[in-house]
Formats: sequence, structure tokens, C-alpha cells
Amino acid sequence: MLAISTGRTVPKSATAVDIPVACDELDQLGADRKRVAELQGFEGKVGQTLVLAGASDQAIDVLVGLGARDAITVDTFRLSSAAFVRAVSGHKAVATTLAEQAGSLDPSQVLRAIVEGLGLASYSYTEQKSKPDPVTLRKATIVATGKGVKLALDQGNATVTAVRLARDLVNQPGGSLLPAVFADIAKSAGAAAGLKVVVWDEKRIAKEKLGGLIGVNKGSTHPPRFVTLTYTPKGKPTGRLAFVGKGVTFDSGGLSLKSGAGMMAMKIDMGGAAAVLGAMTLLPILNAPVTVTAYLPLTDNMVNGDATRPGDVLTARNGTTIEVLNTDAEGRLILADALSLAAEAKPDAIIDIATLTGAVTAALGPKIAGVLGTDDVVAACEKASATTSEPVWHLPLPADYRPMLDSKIADLRNIGTGPYGGALTAGLFLQEFTDGLPWAHIDLGVTASVDADDGINIAGGTGVGVRLLAELAASWGA
Ligand code: BES
Ligand code: MN
Ligand code: ZN
Repeated sequence: MLAISTGRTVPKSATAVDIPVACDELDQLGADRKRVAELQGFEGKVGQTLVLAGASDQAIDVLVGLGARDAITVDTFRLSSAAFVRAVSGHKAVATTLAEQAGSLDPSQVLRAIVEGLGLASYSYTEQKSKPDPVTLRKATIVATGKGVKLALDQGNATVTAVRLARDLVNQPGGSLLPAVFADIAKSAGAAAGLKVVVWDEKRIAKEKLGGLIGVNKGSTHPPRFVTLTYTPKGKPTGRLAFVGKGVTFDSGGLSLKSGAGMMAMKIDMGGAAAVLGAMTLLPILNAPVTVTAYLPLTDNMVNGDATRPGDVLTARNGTTIEVLNTDAEGRLILADALSLAAEAKPDAIIDIATLTGAVTAALGPKIAGVLGTDDVVAACEKASATTSEPVWHLPLPADYRPMLDSKIADLRNIGTGPYGGALTAGLFLQEFTDGLPWAHIDLGVTASVDADDGINIAGGTGVGVRLLAELAASWGA
């Protein structure tokens, strides 16, 4: 794995060094280099790189685009360092001077973003390869000096580790990442970060009346788990948050079986739980000022002779009865229990995150998550999203659509009527379990994974939400 550190100068061992350049400052390269850049089509755009011969035979220089100088943001550094690390993957040790381009931006945020870009764009998931591609790149040095460097570097590296963990979980096949396996990973990752971790097995889950989780698990050979993790800040907490993450380790759809194509990617359906777990591990090093409890319902959604049938009625933790008309709308059933539990503790706010609907992706496309809920918590999610550049878009919870969830025989049905507004009716369903507390629901849709390398992402799990939730907790009340 790539070790990322800082140094006062470019180390002698580095055989590739960047030359950051804004698209309106190509002149500063000097006439010769500018000509080469022009000939090669390098315009200094964000994400562009161009390898040039370096000062010695062994070394290369790499032009790294920054876009327009006055449009540079913290995210520019994430994307530029990601592009750089891709361009130099054949080298063993490299160095970047990107931090020197921070200008008037917060140098700590810029440094963290560079660490994130380097660490996340060099990620690979090789667990299932018999002969993994050999990894050449071992060491990246960020040239940076100053007071906040050590903390920003440590926070950046911890963030990379947390996002990588979430990606590993999303990438792990559904047949091997069983609920109990996920729970064990949560236990060790949580303990390593100094969090309190409690795992409920199927007996305890029954005793606690988590009827949604039990109902979804009924068709499975593998028992469910329910994990809670708690972070307590060092000083007096300034508030209390609850995070809830959907942990469907594989979603076949149940008896309302998905199509082959629709099922193909459904190992990603625990992306919400993975995001919460990753975020929780970051709270200590970010010194988050609030107490945070995370609730992770874990099960697969499978089919056997005892599977929940369309028409069956489940009773959620809070006593609400739910007519299951489509077993593929399972995420909301397990979140119903988890939200009920979260609400019982009366936190200042609840934030849930889930690969809940295809409908949100139909609305927003593959790179933007939906956020629904009460205005204050939605605004906090939007603010964190802007800081971490994990895009979200505010969708409504129209009271007028709530009757679509009325059941003839139970309190609620688990799907709306008709083909439209599926992300909104899903949000309205979840709202029933929040006990009127301040709450936001992040529907990831397909953003939990990408088909091809893109920016800081590598094809497969993205770890989206890890940084957003951690930032939300770290800046809560600020
Ligand atoms: N996990 C899926 C949602 C999903 C689909 C996420 C594709 C990412 C990509 C969820 O459990 C589901 O199946 N939702 C149904 C709901 C419907 C039955 C009301 C959907 O979106 O089709
Ligand atoms: Mn489903
Ligand atoms: Zn699902």
C-alpha cells in the first residue's frame, strides 16, 4: 500500500515529481515546455497530466493541471493529486509540490485533500485475484511545512484508511461478506478506533422485536446481526447524533426477485452501513465534539421456502405494522427498526444513509445522492457535502404523497402506488420511524460504486458517505 508522508523538500529517492500548472499560467513553464505541452494537448485542466523528461535520466517531471487559477478549490487538490498518482503508478517513490499551490485556501484542508487524492486514486481491490497486478508505487511525499502539517497528514491518512475500508466492504462478494462477517469487521475496526461496539445476534434481535430485520432475513440461511458503535468525545459533548446505515449484504429482491441485470451489482447494498462504519472510525482523530451512536442492521435479502411473501405483515420495533407488498423494498424494512432504536435514545438528530432506491438514480444520475428530511439536518448534510465534494441534492417529502403508503390491512405498505416518485415515498416511509425528531435520509442509489475509474474513484466501491458523515459530526453545531 502507498505510504503518504510530508517532507520539507523533494526527497532524492523520488523519481517522479509534479509541476502543478493552472490553465491560465502555462507561460510560467518557459517557452520549450509550453510548446511541448501545447503539442501534446495539455491545457492545464483539472485531471490532466503530462509526463516530461526530468532533470536526471532516472527522473520524470509531470505537469499536473489545476484548471483556472481563480477557480481552484480544495477539491481541485483532491482531483489533481489523484491524476498525478495515476500518472506515476509505475514509479516506486514520488513527490508532489501541490500543497505549495494552496494560495488563500486553508492549508490543512488542502493537505488533507492531497492525501485523500493520492491514497484513494491508488486504491485497488485485489482480494479475489489469483495473480494481482504487482504494485510498484510505495511512497509519496507531499512537500509541505508549517504548524498544522502533522495533524492534517494524520487525519488525511486516517480518512484514506476509512474510505478504503468502506470500499473493501462494498467490493467484497455477497457470498463471503455475510452479516456475521460484516459484524466482526465492525467490531475490530471499531475497537481499533477506540469505539464501543455491541453486536446483537439473531436471538437478541428477536428479543428486541426488530420485526423488519427478521422479516427480511427470513428467506436466508445466514442469521442477521445488529451492530451499534458509540463514539464519545474527550470533553463535554456539545450534542448527540445517531447514524443509521443500510446493511443488506446482498439484495436478490427476495420473492419479488430482481432480474439478472438488476441483481448483478447488489453486493453493494451494504454501502450505507460501510459508510457509517468508516465515518465512525474517523471521529476520534477528527476530535468530533458530539457523541455519535451508529446503528447497523445487517442481513442479506434471499429466497427460500420460508421467505417473507408479498402480502405478509411485519411489526417493526416501534409497533408499526407493515404490509410487505414487494420484498425488494427491503432496505426500508430494516431501517424502520434501526431508526426506531435510534429515536428511542432521543438524539439531537438522526442521519440515515442507504442504497435505498433505483428511483433516486433515475432522478439524479449515477454521481449524485438524494437527501431528504427535516430542513436543518438536510442543510447540515448539504454543508458537509460541499466540504467533502460528495454531491447530494435535496429532494422533497411531499405530505400529499403520504397516502400512497396507506395499507388496507396494516398501518403502512412498504411501496407506494404507481411507478413514480419512488425515492420520495421511500423517504416518507422512513419518516414514520423517526418519532418526529430532526432527521435526514441520504439515498445513495448507485453512487456507492462506479463502473470505471473516475477522479478519486476506482471502478467498484466508492466509499461515498464516509467523509461526508465524518465531516458532519466533526462540524456539528459549528
Ligand atoms: N437496493 C435496492 C435499490 C438499488 C437499486 C440501489 C439499484 C442501487 C442500485 C433496493 O432495495 C430496491 O430494490 N429498491 C427497489 C424499490 C422498489 C421495489 C419500490 C427499487 O428501487 O427498484
Ligand atoms: Mn431491494
Ligand atoms: Zn436493497
